[in-house]
Amino acid sequence: MKQTILITGGAGFIGSCLVKLMVKNHPDYKIINLDALTYAGNLENLTEIENAPNYQFIKGDINDRPFIDELFKVHQFDGVIHLAAESHVDRSITNPLSFIMTNIVGTVNLLNAARHNWGDFEGKRFYHVSTDEVYGSLGATGLFTEETSYDPRSPYSASKASSDHLVRAYHHTYGLPIVISNCSNNYGPYQFPEKLLPLFIFNIKNEKPLPVYGDGKYTRDWLWVDDHARAIDLIYHKGKDGDTYNIGGHNEWMNIDLIHLMCDTMDDLLGKEKGSSRKLITFVKDRPGHDKRYAIDASKLKDELGWVPSLQMEEGIRKTAEWYLENSEWLENVTTGNYQKYYEKQYADR
Ligand code: NAD
Ligand code: TYD
Repeated sequence: MKQTILITGGAGFIGSCLVKLMVKNHPDYKIINLDALTYAGNLENLTEIENAPNYQFIKGDINDRPFIDELFKVHQFDGVIHLAAESHVDRSITNPLSFIMTNIVGTVNLLNAARHNWGDFEGKRFYHVSTDEVYGSLGATGLFTEETSYDPRSPYSASKASSDHLVRAYHHTYGLPIVISNCSNNYGPYQFPEKLLPLFIFNIKNEKPLPVYGDGKYTRDWLWVDDHARAIDLIYHKGKDGDTYNIGGHNEWMNIDLIHLMCDTMDDLLGKEKGSSRKLITFVKDRPGHDKRYAIDASKLKDELGWVPSLQMEEGIRKTAEWYLENSEWLENVTTGNYQKYYEKQYADR
């Protein structure tokens, strides 16, 4: 095997997309997927590669320090691509501590294991996958660049900012070879239906209300998840040691406009009268501390490494809606159990 790479969080939304891409693109690598299988991790996301000879799944928690240390002793990892995290802003508002534990302490456990087991660091790389939310909230104009100061405002983004700082600190203090990317909102198949788009597809299908926070005039910059996975593969191989790369689709949408697009797409796919799904829109109490606008300047990634996003939003939204409709069993499986309880509790008072 040319390289053995540990991917953490590989049973989640972005992680599973990345694992599939790496297993297929690099048959000469061994890809080890470490995931605790929380409510957000699902091995059904990986069935198409589960028997691939260059793939191995290990169930485990990055908060379990002795286990992580042992893992690094047993496997001679050449690189780590770290995605395991608590990832949902609303959950971070109701339970910040789990975000501190996994996103900060869990990251430090991995950094320490790399630091202590990677000898002189020759040929090694620790890649931290992060979010544009570390930069805070934009006004009506401007874009986040790699030079934008950190200004995280939710427990989720504060925990990711903290882990970014720690990854850089291990680079500066101990010389650990690292790279970080900060990406905008992803969308596509296999996203747990608590995030905006899969939740709204699920609710439209089940004729449930669509809870739009506040006035819906919040802006996000959306990226097709495969484009993110492709960028990670590229940055892992070609990114400069110690550097940060922003990843984004140059694809800003105000929530309410995106929701209208999704409603109209679903009407079309479900053969409903135009305008039916929009009637489910319900304006609810705003998210506390709701960031107004995110928008990424991804020109460094384009200029240095030649990456550009592949998909237009209208096509991506249609592909996404079609996927969830065709995979209703997946949706059914992940929306029973924990998710239902969370959903009921979360929206009971809205
Ligand atoms: P996700 O919630 O879908 O998946 C997270 C995965 O991590 C799950 O499989 C879960 O089981 C696993 N996990 C959680 N806690 C763990 C622990 N203690 N030990 C081991 N595994 C654990 O998240 P996602 O949307 O795929 O995001 C993946 C990464 O990308 C995160 O680090 C997130 O901050 C970052 N990111 C996400 C977005 C986005 O739009 N979703 C955008 C930019 C960056
Ligand atoms: P989300 O998918 O949670 O991603 P993030 O908070 O990381 O950007 O939310 C995207 C946007 O949609 C955000 O502005 C919050 C809003 N939103 C709603 O209006 N209603 C919802 O039910 C959800 C989950 C999100």
